[in-house]
Amino acid sequence: MEVIILFEEKIDIKENNIFQFDYDLLSILLKDNTTGKNILWGTDNYINRGNYYKPNDEIKIEQIISYNGSVIKPRIKKSKMEQEKRSKDKGEVFTPAWVCNMQNNIVDTCWFGYENVFNKELTDSWKTNKKKIEFPKNKTWKDYVNDIRLEITCGEAPYLISRYDTTSGDIIPVIDRIGMLDRKLRVINENVNNENEWIEYSIMAFKSTYGYEWQGDSLLIARENMLYTFCDNYYYKFNCYPSKDLLKEIASIISWNLFQMDGLKYVIPYSCKNEERINYTLFGEEIEKIECDGCKKDNCHLHNGIYAKIMNWQTNRKVKFISILKNSNN
Ligand SMILES: C[S@@+](CC[C@H](N)C(=O)[O-])C[C@H]1O[C@@H](n2cnc3c(N)ncnc32)[C@H](O)[C@@H]1O
Repeated sequence: MEVIILFEEKIDIKENNIFQFDYDLLSILLKDNTTGKNILWGTDNYINRGNYYKPNDEIKIEQIISYNGSVIKPRIKKSKMEQEKRSKDKGEVFTPAWVCNMQNNIVDTCWFGYENVFNKELTDSWKTNKKKIEFPKNKTWKDYVNDIRLEITCGEAPYLISRYDTTSGDIIPVIDRIGMLDRKLRVINENVNNENEWIEYSIMAFKSTYGYEWQGDSLLIARENMLYTFCDNYYYKFNCYPSKDLLKEIASIISWNLFQMDGLKYVIPYSCKNEERINYTLFGEEIEKIECDGCKKDNCHLHNGIYAKIMNWQTNRKVKFISILKNSNN
């Protein structure tokens, strides 16, 4: 019964419902695993609400469960003025689902070696291919589930999951979804019937799906959408809801894999500091201002801020995101 509350929301997920269902679940979804604190607001859209809503403040549970959980809304539910401000401030323009589908199809055409694997593109939409997905001779469905995918500057993560079209608000049924994680889950649904095995492979699918974003509200929405995608598929497959413990396990993976980062510097937003050094001279003390070297020289290796960390699930070791980039001299 408790879980059902969570399922009532198709687009605007209410944080107070998650909170009432399980306090820890919401705490996990807000966690920044690099800093050990919560993710930051990352936008000045909320400063009128009072103290502690500044862009570099952490998002706290009590701030987002008031007003029936309507403080954080997806872009499609934000006012026109707010939408325009966010486009101006952070280049926030979301991609229609049919465009995400086209681009994800290009990746899959390469991977599978044939076209129209999951669907056939139509003008501004698509028709789902309902037949079981066929795999090339040298690759298995398990390879597909484990293949790593990342959505850079993910916003509400429409390339990963497509519960709704982020530009129109249209709800998309499980079978017709086009995100990269949606596709992995479809393949699992088609190949696994045993519940424990299904959970095992779904965990692999979540562990192999990553995204990062600057703005904390969009990041939280992306994380919630990932969690609800798990619930949607669980229900689709087994006609019942996952346990709280399982939801928390999935939420922990999500909070690692969808992370807050300045994608130009690879650090936590606002974490680079300008330091002050006191120099003692004949004439007394002089304060020298020292700018972050990375910011000054525009060199991503020299920042004094906190480099974002992600989990390598194969080794269970944390690594700095910047360390996995090839040719990352600048
Ligand atoms: C054009 S939107 C794309 C969002 C989503 N990927 C989509 O296709 O709908 C760009 C996103 O990049 C984020 N962003 C802007 N600058 C960023 C930066 N330096 N690092 C990380 N994210 C950034 C914005 O907050 C915004 O959500």
